[in-house]
Amino acid sequence: MSLYTVESLRLAYPARRLFAGHAVQQVLRDLSFTIAAGETVGLVGASGSGKSSLLRCLLALEPRAQGCIRFQGRRLRAGSVRALGWYRRAVQYVPQDPVASLEPRMSVAQIVMEPLRRLTGETAPLARATEALESVGLDHRYLARRPHELSGGQAQRVAIARAIVLRPQVLLADEPVSGLDMTIRAQVAALLRGLCAEQGMGLVMVSHDLSVVATLCRRVMVMEAGALVEDRPLAALLAAPHHPQTRRLLNAAPPMIAAASSQGFSNETAEQSPDRGAGTCPSRAARAGGGPAHPYCASATAALGAEPPVG
Ligand SMILES: Nc1ncnc2c1ncn2[C@@H]1O[C@H](COP(=O)(O)OP(=O)(O)O)[C@@H](O)[C@H]1O
Ligand SMILES: [Mg+2]
Repeated sequence: MSLYTVESLRLAYPARRLFAGHAVQQVLRDLSFTIAAGETVGLVGASGSGKSSLLRCLLALEPRAQGCIRFQGRRLRAGSVRALGWYRRAVQYVPQDPVASLEPRMSVAQIVMEPLRRLTGETAPLARATEALESVGLDHRYLARRPHELSGGQAQRVAIARAIVLRPQVLLADEPVSGLDMTIRAQVAALLRGLCAEQGMGLVMVSHDLSVVATLCRRVMVMEAGALVEDRPLAALLAAPHHPQTRRLLNAAPPMIAAASSQGFSNETAEQSPDRGAGTCPSRAARAGGGPAHPYCASATAALGAEPPVG
């Protein structure tokens, strides 16, 4: 069974003055797609194309949404926090601006423990919070810190620790690495890649940056003006983009990604590489055994200015 089944999803906002003459502004136009468990999906498109709106709909945070979104066959309806408790345990969210998303008066430990307390009633959450922070490379010394004492990259990692502490089936992330400097960006991308490859976590990630998508996602959904204009495996999309908007995004991408697409780097499909599982990259174990990095990981990681992680 699909994890997500989306049918005829539509979203309209009351028109702003700019759109005078139209009663509503169509932001999502009749989107239908499915997402399987463990799938890694990059959501790309120009600014204003509806990426964040789609993510909000998937999070069941958009009461104006029309159409139908099911998660594991159960219909999601925005607005009922209590009725969606089961969903909030299965799915976590990494917001675009980590610093703004962290409660300034809480310590890092309290921030990461909060979802455990709220959603599971866990009585001894400190050990799990500490473990989650360690998995994002922050040791016990960070437990007592407050958000203002963190760098942007550290705050982003705290937001990710908070999101992964419940071991979600899928992580919905809105530009999780944008705004980070190159070194931290590569580090956080490697962390997310590891979680997908090693824990089978699914990922739906909004990004305006195709090089980041190429390091993390096996499938790419391209949006333009609220419509889904291309939805294909990453390798096939890079090798032969179908839609003009995809070509525009590729032309604007870092040189390594553009080169990969123009060379027809690979026509690998998910079916041809069942050993790779959910992630774009081979597992850590495979790499430790001397297996090569996925070519897109290598090219994209080069575009990000860092070596792919080992061990
Ligand atoms: N709360 C809102 N009220 C009215 N219009 C909105 C709101 N949020 C987003 N929009 C509009 O919806 C469109 C899509 O926005 P968004 O989903 O944020 O795009 P993206 O994330 O791709 O940049 C934009 O035209 C934006 O102005
Ligand atoms: Mg957005």
